[in-house]
Amino acid sequence: MKSVYAALRLLLAASLPVAFAATAEEWRGRSIYQIITDRFALPQGSSSSTCDPGAQTFCGGTWNSIRENLDYVQDAGFTAIWISPVNQNYEGPRSAYGDPYHGYWMADISQLNSRFGTAEDLKALSAELHRRNMYLMVDVVVNNVMATSTTPDYSKYFFKDASFYHPYCPIQWGNATSEEECWMGDERVPLPDIDTRNPTVISRYGEWITNLVKEYSIDGLRIDAAKHVQMDFWPQFCEKAGVFCMGEVFGGQEVDPIAQYQGAQALDSVLNFPMYTALVEAFKIPGPANVSAVAHVFEESRTKFKDVGLLGNFLENHDLPRWHNLSVDPQSMYNAMTFNFMSDGIPVVYYGQEQAFSGSADPFNREPLWPSEYAKTDAYKLMATLNQLRNFLVNTTDWVKQEAELLTTSPYGFALMKGSVISILTNIGSPPQNGTHIAVTSPYASGTAMINILTCQQWAVGAKGMLDAQYTLGGVPTILIPSDMLDGSGLCGAELRTTANNGGRADALSSSPHLSPFASPFSLALIALISLFFAMTS
Ligand SMILES: *[C@@H]1O[C@H](CO)[C@@H](O)[C@H](O)[C@H]1NC(C)=O
Ligand SMILES: *[C@@H]1O[C@H](CO)[C@@H](O)[C@H](O)[C@H]1NC(C)=O
Ligand SMILES: *[C@@H]1O[C@H](CO)[C@@H](O)[C@H](O)[C@H]1NC(C)=O
Ligand SMILES: *[C@@H]1O[C@H](CO)[C@@H](O)[C@H](O)[C@H]1NC(C)=O
Ligand SMILES: *[C@@H]1O[C@H](CO)[C@@H](O)[C@H](O)[C@H]1NC(C)=O
Repeated sequence: MKSVYAALRLLLAASLPVAFAATAEEWRGRSIYQIITDRFALPQGSSSSTCDPGAQTFCGGTWNSIRENLDYVQDAGFTAIWISPVNQNYEGPRSAYGDPYHGYWMADISQLNSRFGTAEDLKALSAELHRRNMYLMVDVVVNNVMATSTTPDYSKYFFKDASFYHPYCPIQWGNATSEEECWMGDERVPLPDIDTRNPTVISRYGEWITNLVKEYSIDGLRIDAAKHVQMDFWPQFCEKAGVFCMGEVFGGQEVDPIAQYQGAQALDSVLNFPMYTALVEAFKIPGPANVSAVAHVFEESRTKFKDVGLLGNFLENHDLPRWHNLSVDPQSMYNAMTFNFMSDGIPVVYYGQEQAFSGSADPFNREPLWPSEYAKTDAYKLMATLNQLRNFLVNTTDWVKQEAELLTTSPYGFALMKGSVISILTNIGSPPQNGTHIAVTSPYASGTAMINILTCQQWAVGAKGMLDAQYTLGGVPTILIPSDMLDGSGLCGAELRTTANNGGRADALSSSPHLSPFASPFSLALIALISLFFAMTS
């Protein structure tokens, strides 16, 4: 009987109209928690095994173990997760760089990666996220497969003939054609480059992504190595996906080379590498403390990116050193993190940042999360507060669509205003400093009652709109909002009202144009049928 119930539950999950299949507009107000499936959580009852990131092997996380630990993510206020790739990977002997625990070493993408669970497990994760009004973003690798020699056996891949691949050549960095056509990786672990101009490749990739998104009710895609595929591949691919696409266009502080990948000619969104690089330059301790870098990228982004509100703002990911490997002072992270949530863009937090993990780059930045015991650290609480404010503003106002502006820059930081919220951020670090302050001229009338939502202290706007941040308690971030706007937010003693969402959360169910075709007579009939079944058997 138990298995019948389980089967029915799965049937229901698969057929009810919970497929959000979200658009860029619906993602704008979200915040994303990035997960490496193998490293987020152990399955229930498995003995807490040790996991050495340096060993580059599987540690045991699965889609089920993500599903069983979603409270941790949702309690921090995140409204979406991004998971590492779900498709079949290389399954041969250990390679020169270990095993494909990270999921990026593609083999046959028509299959799922059995290491992480079954099709039912992935559907159950998707259904559970949707039950919580959260979105599922899946990482996809289109540019390449993985091999252990430059003359691989192509029959084990989705595209089974050498004619679907570019011939082997090592990438000549800086040569755009070479970056698109030559093979990433190296000779020990080459990543054979798929010929994404081949019409058969284009059409089969289109069918594949349509089916993947539909089958697992995926709400958005993160696209690996997007700049290694010719740009005009993306619009038709993402149209076939029918969901939000956020691409990885790896880069530094220069805005132009990355901004060209956002827009109708390419992708809805890209990860915000220029701002990441600038935030490191401005906030890292010790570091150049170059506040102008942020101001520079901020201003350039407004003119060069198609839509800064859709960029993925991050401080860490699986390819970069952890923030705490670059900068141990926690206030440096708190300030930079506050910028990512309170400025334009979609905040993306890589799992473990809230636990102050400090590994250097790949593979040391893929630590197991379980030894942290999922503690509610200060960083976790800060993220929860930032998400609570942002979710509240997304739910009740058009805040997320109002473009941020820099009010002030100083040698120690800057003030940023987005909608009604003023964030004053500094790079001076934890030690208290007398005399160091940031004076901000705000548009608020003198005497306006403001509240700092990170401390719940009242602030009054001074003459000529002046707000003055003092650092006698160290370089903490400050987030000011008129006190009367917090009503309903649950922050700083204000009453909590669960608000209907205008940012795509609740009404994704009722007004999304992307409802699955099952959203209707079919599922009603199914429910009727199932009710009848229960009536008869119980
Ligand atoms: C750039 O790379 C392409 C593809 O490998 C190659 O054909 C071309 O000669 C390279 N251009 C230069 C200037 O090296
Ligand atoms: C600080 O950043 C600005 C803008 O990117 C740059 O022009 C300047 O050279 C940087 N200063 C230092 C000291 O690195
Ligand atoms: C940075 O990472 C390396 C390698 O994991 C480690 O040896 C080093 O201690 C880390 N630095 C900090 C500050 O944690
Ligand atoms: C935002 O709206 C959603 C959906 O109605 C709700 O679950 C959530 O609690 C709201 N969040 C805030 C902070 O109001
Ligand atoms: C800051 O100034 C106050 C009073 O003016 C003094 O009591 C305190 O010790 C000073 N702190 C530092 C770190 O200099």
